[in-house]
Amino acid sequence: MKLTWIWKLAVLFQVSGVTLGAEKLQSYNVDRSTITISGLSSGGAIAMQYHVAFSSEIKGAAIFAGVPFGCYKVNYCMYASTVIVSNLAKDITDLATANKIDNPRNLNGTKVFVFHGTRDTTVDPAFGRKLEQLYQVFGGVTKNEYTIGAVHGFPTNFYGAPCGSSSAATYYINNCNYHGSNIAMNHLLGGSFAPPASSAAGQLLQYDQTEFGGSAVSSMDSTGFVYIPTGCQDKTRQCKLHIAFHGCAQSKTNLNDIYARKIGMLEVAEANNIIVLFPQAAPNILVGNPNACWDWWGYLGANFLNKDGAQMKAVHAMQLRVSNCEQSTGCNPSVTEPPVTGGPTASTGAPRECEDNTVEFRPFPGDCRYYTLCACGTSVLLECASGLYFDPVIGKCNFMQLVPGCDANLS
Ligand SMILES: *[C@@H]1O[C@H](CO)[C@@H](O)[C@H](O)[C@H]1NC(C)=O
Repeated sequence: MKLTWIWKLAVLFQVSGVTLGAEKLQSYNVDRSTITISGLSSGGAIAMQYHVAFSSEIKGAAIFAGVPFGCYKVNYCMYASTVIVSNLAKDITDLATANKIDNPRNLNGTKVFVFHGTRDTTVDPAFGRKLEQLYQVFGGVTKNEYTIGAVHGFPTNFYGAPCGSSSAATYYINNCNYHGSNIAMNHLLGGSFAPPASSAAGQLLQYDQTEFGGSAVSSMDSTGFVYIPTGCQDKTRQCKLHIAFHGCAQSKTNLNDIYARKIGMLEVAEANNIIVLFPQAAPNILVGNPNACWDWWGYLGANFLNKDGAQMKAVHAMQLRVSNCEQSTGCNPSVTEPPVTGGPTASTGAPRECEDNTVEFRPFPGDCRYYTLCACGTSVLLECASGLYFDPVIGKCNFMQLVPGCDANLS
């Protein structure tokens, strides 16, 4: 008996030095002219860094509640009013001259989406305008949204605290009746998008980040997430690639896969055949990063915003792996595009409107662990206790076994 027990433990915890559940990141058939990135807050800051540094490879960027490239310097970024866009533009040109980043001429014509809520008291909304101006210096084709009454958080149309309320309990994700992921991705990839799928029916996988330099030294997790839409599992089909950076306190250590699953990006990706890489930072007090922020102020040293920065290099290596269709893994670099699955009749993922005069609990489409409280015209997402699913028949959480038809989409 004892041997059996030990054997089971060995199977559970061993494997090949790779964290349990995390596999080697695979390569896929990616159209490399369609690689885009996004991020919230510190993730928005590193998304812009990454875009500027690798501008020859990145097609567009969506920056939510972020700050401009290189604005960490004293007096550059103390307050938004002290940010001098021409100084930052000169820094970009100087870094390119020193071959530390790609030539910013690549940014001419690149698509950029900037979101900043009017009620953001964490990062002054004026930073959003400054980063948009910086992109415009280099010819970025920008679209912005500065009018929504959002606090500091990712705007969705289905998950999170009400738009203007503190979203600490819903992990800095807010229900603003505004599908941030869909609107941003539509701009970056040129419209004619299929509406988001009603559920993310593809696979959200965990992959090993350590082979790319993800470790305590780079304040990164040993594991990241990657979403493979249903249409991209056949590697003879060509797909797009998006890289999404979480904000501070949104890493795997903080909230597992909530950022990946609740910003609406998976449903957009599912409908439009976009593979989504969610690299994961991790807290490391020793390097001065207790909240798992991405490095936009130099806690890992002077290279942090150029191509030699530890996090920049690590994510770039992941990008190359995912997009480098290795035929040995069964990938066939043909150009057949998978059929678009969304179609004009697909749901937008928006729950039924909450009328002013109703108070009720409703099931959350596609995931029985969650349900919504609909009251006074807004809905709030709630989660059943571990082991329970929301049971629409009784209108509350119930034992899993008593709620039929719920297992399919749970990991
Ligand atoms: C972008 O490219 C266009 C066309 O080549 C050129 O006219 C324009 O001056 C460029 N803009 C910037 C900011 O370099």
